[in-house]
Amino acid sequence: MLIAPSLLAANFGRFAAETQRAERAGADWLHLDIMDGHFVPNISFGPEVVRVLRPQTRLPLDVHLMCSRPEILLEPFAKAGADHLTVHVELGEKVMPLLWKIRALGKLVGLAINPPTAIANVLPYLERIDLLLVMTVNPGFGGQPFIAETVPKIQQAAAWRHQKKLKCRIEVDGGINLSTAAECARAGADTFVSGTSLFGRHNLRAAIRQMRAAVTAAAGNRPKG
Ligand code: DX5
Ligand code: ZN
Repeated sequence: MLIAPSLLAANFGRFAAETQRAERAGADWLHLDIMDGHFVPNISFGPEVVRVLRPQTRLPLDVHLMCSRPEILLEPFAKAGADHLTVHVELGEKVMPLLWKIRALGKLVGLAINPPTAIANVLPYLERIDLLLVMTVNPGFGGQPFIAETVPKIQQAAAWRHQKKLKCRIEVDGGINLSTAAECARAGADTFVSGTSLFGRHNLRAAIRQMRAAVTAAAGNRPKG
């Protein structure tokens, strides 16, 4: 079970300190939400932030590209030090070349899916990805409420992973707190992106420890098969 605090919820004026705080607090990954103001109605930060943070931490940098033209961003983020690059299945026929390009760059290959998108859309790609990022809010902003209707999509993805004997991680992102993380773990998620519920806490170490305990316990009670 991996916990990935989202930098989107951190203090934008203290990214380096917040990154080190997350590492000291026991985070497994650092999740970076990249928004282009076109694929989503918000703009966050770019490759330069990854370049500056890279020497500050040993944490894997889990870059989530909520961007309409990730093809022009993959190399800059890879060069800046990203470890994982995730693109959205909503990009349609662009997806397969993007996944191959990420693989060619030597990074973990991630595919994200928005709440309204049917989970069947990821089927053609499951064998080619390392991470399936199931969005549990509509992308664009932190602090939104969890969308419970996304849970069956996690269950379906976990079933396909089991049936096809795949190794990809199932990551969830958006409105993830102790109880929604446990619900997603019961459904088959194993990697948890959380911003508000983690960076919003004074004691980040305790928050991460509690979330890890909650998802580990919940996964232990998962229905088998
Ligand atoms: C949505 C973002 C958020 C962020 C975490 O585009 O991807 O989901 O990572 O947000 P909260 O604050 O809901 O954990
Ligand atoms: Zn994200």
